[in-house]
Amino acid sequence: MLMTIRFDGRVAIVTGAGAGLGRAHAHLLAAHGAKVVVNDPGGSVDGKGGDGAAADKVVAEITAAGGEAVANYASVSDREGAASIVQTAIDAFGKIDIVVNNAGILRDKSFVKMTLEEFEIVLNVHLLGTVYVTKAAWPHLLEQKYGRVVFTSSGSGLVGSYGQSNYGAAKTGMMGLMNNLKFEGAKSNIKVNMISPVAGTRMTEGIIEQKLFDLSKPEQVSPAVAWLSSEECDVNGEIVAAGAGYFTVLKLMKGKGHVVDPSHVATLEDFVNNKDKIFDLSEAKPYNSTLDDETKKFLGLM
Ligand code: NAI
Repeated sequence: MLMTIRFDGRVAIVTGAGAGLGRAHAHLLAAHGAKVVVNDPGGSVDGKGGDGAAADKVVAEITAAGGEAVANYASVSDREGAASIVQTAIDAFGKIDIVVNNAGILRDKSFVKMTLEEFEIVLNVHLLGTVYVTKAAWPHLLEQKYGRVVFTSSGSGLVGSYGQSNYGAAKTGMMGLMNNLKFEGAKSNIKVNMISPVAGTRMTEGIIEQKLFDLSKPEQVSPAVAWLSSEECDVNGEIVAAGAGYFTVLKLMKGKGHVVDPSHVATLEDFVNNKDKIFDLSEAKPYNSTLDDETKKFLGLM
């Protein structure tokens, strides 16, 4: 028998759930029993304009399908707005268990042409929006000793792309946030993980090739988000790539490296002459700490 999971009694926030990936995540969580706050101020892909229609529509869809959902129209990049999203969950459903940070916009331009305002706007929605919403939920999660938090990163940040320095900085900044929160929440059964999706949405229309666009339905990403949001989730601080029905974990790698003769302080020549060994990944392992036990042994410290 195929296994599934349920979210009965759980309350979830999905930011930017009026369209695309967020809408699909909200639907899947609700279909499996979660009560969902559908957050979305609406607006265009660059974050301009908007009314509450998108969030209302998704709430109506979920309700029509027999699920439970309420709308919230705040912008995640507004501190009070972000706090209001958590308050909506408390007011409507009495608590908060799951926070799916998904809201996002684009202001693509090469770095030389990008204004600092365009840089800040994107950082504010993706990175600070994720901080504000997660920060508002965090004390509740700590107090109840349970929580699941999902961040939405991107290959554009993790490996880079042209013309998305603002977006890439925001998306990789989330990794630093996750890497710290995974420790701070661990004792309270709070797990913080991240996805790196690919999906055919208005954000990727005309950007990714049509065949991939058609195959990459947003619904193809949501199973990863739902599992990371579930009680069954037994990973913390991981990045899961998801798209077009493909799922895999992503890791930073650490090469074997090179140790300079300890009889002298490392010189520029030491680096230059051993560059090939320093950049060699043939014996790479997941990177957890620069001075892990293996490296300490390699350095003669253990
Ligand atoms: P989308 O444009 O279809 O959906 C984004 C939603 O976020 C929209 O409904 C929008 O109204 C909402 N939103 C925008 N600013 C907001 C704010 N300040 N507060 C609350 N909601 C806000 O785009 P898509 O593709 O569904 O993107 C969802 C997330 O996935 C984004 O964070 C995006 O960066 C990320 N992502 C998407 C990829 C893809 O292939 N579609 C690839 C990598 C990352």
